[in-house]
Amino acid sequence: MAIDNPVIHHLGTRTARTLKETTSIAAELLPLMLKAGVVSLEGPLGAGKTHFVKATALTMGITEDVTSPTFTLLQSYGSGELRLHHSDWYRLESDAEVLGLGLEDYHGEGLMLIEWGDKFPGLLPPSTLRIRIEPMPDGSRLIHISQHS
Ligand SMILES: Nc1ncnc2c1ncn2[C@@H]1O[C@H](COP(=O)(O)OP(=O)(O)OP(=O)(O)O)[C@@H](O)[C@H]1O
Ligand SMILES: [Mg+2]
Repeated sequence: MAIDNPVIHHLGTRTARTLKETTSIAAELLPLMLKAGVVSLEGPLGAGKTHFVKATALTMGITEDVTSPTFTLLQSYGSGELRLHHSDWYRLESDAEVLGLGLEDYHGEGLMLIEWGDKFPGLLPPSTLRIRIEPMPDGSRLIHISQHS
């Protein structure tokens, strides 16, 4: 029997019917996200991952315009403890490419949000908070929150 299987703790599910509701949920989850330090944003293309990062930036008081880091791969906003780092692993194809971003340099310095973090789960720190966004047929989003122990 494997004794090192990580236990996944489901912390809850929220429903966002509008972009505004996503912002309220991001505000509610901010203390949890700051405590984890790293957040993996998961869900299909167009699920609302980038929007969730924009909502988080708003709740952190960041006024800069957050854009999708699909090509730049890593962007940082804000300053001090409320710095936000935004990465997107969608276009990355190997562990080496992810490691080449040097994300660990930012560890402990603000909040790291990673779109498509589940592409390389072995490269996420154990404390990573996972936020999986599931689009529903009526256009609303289910937001599932979990964390490995
Ligand atoms: N909670 C929500 N309610 C309604 N519409 C939403 C919600 N969240 C996101 N959207 C809409 O979904 C579309 C896609 O959002 P977004 O770009 O954030 O997706 P994504 O998951 O980052 O996509 P990708 O996988 O391409 O990076 C946008 O038009 C956005 O306005
Ligand atoms: Mg995106």
